[in-house]
Amino acid sequence: MLTTSKQTFSLARRYGNIYRLYCGNTTMVILNSSEIIREALVKKWSDFAGRPHSYTGDKVSGGGQSISLGDYSEEWKTHRRLAHSALQRCTADSLHSIIEKQALHLKQVLLDYNEKAVDLSEDFTVAASNVITTLTFGKSYNKSSVELQELHGCLNEIVALWGSPWITALDSFPLLRWLPNPPFSRLMKEVARRNELIRTHLEEFKVQTEGLNKGVTLTAIRMHMTIVDLLIGGTETAAAWLSWAIAFLLHRPEVQAAVHEELRTVLQGQDPRYSDRHRLPYLCAVINEVLRLRPVAPLAVPHKASRDSRIAGYFIPKDTVIIPNLFGAHHDPEVWSDPYSFRPERFLDRGGGSLRALMPFGGGARLCLGESVAKMELFLFTAYLLRDFQFMPASQEEPLPDLRGVASVVLKARPYRVIARPRAK
Ligand code: HEM
Repeated sequence: MLTTSKQTFSLARRYGNIYRLYCGNTTMVILNSSEIIREALVKKWSDFAGRPHSYTGDKVSGGGQSISLGDYSEEWKTHRRLAHSALQRCTADSLHSIIEKQALHLKQVLLDYNEKAVDLSEDFTVAASNVITTLTFGKSYNKSSVELQELHGCLNEIVALWGSPWITALDSFPLLRWLPNPPFSRLMKEVARRNELIRTHLEEFKVQTEGLNKGVTLTAIRMHMTIVDLLIGGTETAAAWLSWAIAFLLHRPEVQAAVHEELRTVLQGQDPRYSDRHRLPYLCAVINEVLRLRPVAPLAVPHKASRDSRIAGYFIPKDTVIIPNLFGAHHDPEVWSDPYSFRPERFLDRGGGSLRALMPFGGGARLCLGESVAKMELFLFTAYLLRDFQFMPASQEEPLPDLRGVASVVLKARPYRVIARPRAK
């Protein structure tokens, strides 16, 4: 079993920047500093771009044919390149207006709450999900849409079931695969349901991608898994990040006020554009500080050594599983002064840390495929929200949001309620 990022972090402080763990007959090496993670993922990317193979991973990824779970191969490289160039084209052509539309829709949802104390996490999920469904299916949904509920219910169930001990045990103990296992049967049912839901949208997506890549096509299953990759990779991550940003700002109203003041003076009543980021350094510093303190994929996705290699001078045999502990690297006291404090200024003045050591999207051949989409989303959503609303605690009696979070594949904030008060024009 994988340890949570918090446990992994404590182990890092105890055993150093690189250590080995044994899990059944799998050897794992945990990397805890940004320099070491960079050495493996970026400098020696071709040694560590693999993904570990697992029985259950194959079951949820159409036999390892997704970008995120597929092992490094020529076919995988073509798959990732096609998906990447399709996303880059969308980023250049239409992403800005897609995100803007969702930011304005989110604004209306918040206005409709009429300063009621509410949990916004589902609204953030819908906003992030709509960016991806607009890119892939050309469609967006309302929170109450049955289609959206069905899709999310199904994807969340798959992620939750896949992480459950009943199912991970099947990877380490093959004999268990012969015994009845109700959670595994449920997982298989959800995977079939997911495939059916996505199949209905596949043709449209295929047309878009073929157009963008001038005749180079993917097999139907790879095309299908790309949609799954984008929906799973791009929804809960961005939504969780938005919840974290508001949670930190509730703890630090003076930071929220300073971001609003920067937005007000720089934008002078205009709507934010992504190109404004160069004129909004404090907002960018806040975004980076939230990414540092709560990297929403705290242990990235496991890598695999595809040949014998070395990291930090240590011999790493082929097939070793490599875990980049991004959470640990972002709290390394050698790099970040006062690493647990929320101090956006550290990204403005030298000495508080270094942008080079900030790696929330991983790096190298497996760098987050949606990095440019995510960066534009985080910037535009936050700029619109903080320009138009003051976020306030639900009440005097209710405690401020718990900043410890819930550790799982995605590091999420614990549920909390907040009041969004519209700013005077
Ligand atoms: C992979 C972070 C948003 C799609 C990853 C990885 C990280 C990450 C750490 C693993 C890198 C590795 O294996 O070393 C984040 C963060 C996000 C975010 C912090 C937002 C705050 C998105 C979005 C999309 C996306 C919006 C889709 C549009 C993917 C995919 C992969 C991935 C497909 C697998 C890449 C591969 O295996 O080659 N992400 N992500 N992510 N992400 Fe993201």
